[in-house]
Amino acid sequence: MSFLVHITRPVPEVALEILQAAGCRVTMPTEPGLPDPSELREAVREADGLLSILTEPVTMELLEAAPRLKVVSNMAVGFDNIDVVAATARGIAVCNTPGVLTETTADFTWALLMAVARRLVEGDAMVRAGEFHWWGPKLLMGSDIHGKILGVVGFGKIGQAVARRARGFAMEVLYCGETAPHRSPLGRKVSFEELLERADFVSLHVPYRPSTHHLITGNELRRMKRSAFLINTARGAVVKEDDLVTALTAGEIAGAALDVFEREPEVHPNLLSLDQVVLAPHAASASLETRSLMARMAAENLLACLTGDRPHSIVNPEVLS
Ligand code: DGY
Repeated sequence: MSFLVHITRPVPEVALEILQAAGCRVTMPTEPGLPDPSELREAVREADGLLSILTEPVTMELLEAAPRLKVVSNMAVGFDNIDVVAATARGIAVCNTPGVLTETTADFTWALLMAVARRLVEGDAMVRAGEFHWWGPKLLMGSDIHGKILGVVGFGKIGQAVARRARGFAMEVLYCGETAPHRSPLGRKVSFEELLERADFVSLHVPYRPSTHHLITGNELRRMKRSAFLINTARGAVVKEDDLVTALTAGEIAGAALDVFEREPEVHPNLLSLDQVVLAPHAASASLETRSLMARMAAENLLACLTGDRPHSIVNPEVLS
């Protein structure tokens, strides 16, 4: 039987190859931009499977427009763009791609941490602007990384991969999280409050859900050291962006490095003018290798759900029984 699969945005070729080799008919836009919601509803009308990207809200309305749909396979570890409750109620499987992006995301977290601590973006802008006139004893003094304290909020796969890299910098690691193990060779579990108060770098690695919405507000930022940095590669709305701008402007923390934004792709306008902030376009998993692995896993998950096999990762396994 030939299944119809819609892919919401152009993805690495490997996903198409896998689906087409299995006999699926695949539709996918050719332009890289966001699909228009009404065109997306039209595109899923006959679809058996949807390979979605985190930029597309998979709402009850979209699911209702797709009466044949059996699976929504997100090409991301996060799945906060999907109404999982509505999908489950309709017996639609929801899949994600954990694991394959862990190390790449941890690498990028460190790239951000190092960039903000050592003022790399400011230095790059200075050199490009022809403003590097001499080596200066006080030029662009940043903050050391080695020997400092790293605080990891959320100690799942990515949080642990970030912590593992801290060994090379002889750092003390503190971690916290609802489901974090009590003991780990990578660091010491402490309360969220202690972590905020002691860490020189606070790195966020929690999934986005109601309990982590605005986990970091003015109160948490004021608990941090004035010399500390906040790194966010999780989800934008984990941080109350207005409060972050206030804290940065008032010097309550030293800086922030952000890969994600509360109203993505919009960025708080005041963040754009702050030198002590490094900004990235939600690119933590964006390596050639990892994006291909994510596309492969998303396609394989989707196919497994259509053919009655067990997917690599399913968010709502209850629909399989
Ligand atoms: C995810 O997978 O959830 C990231 O945000 C993008 O790789």
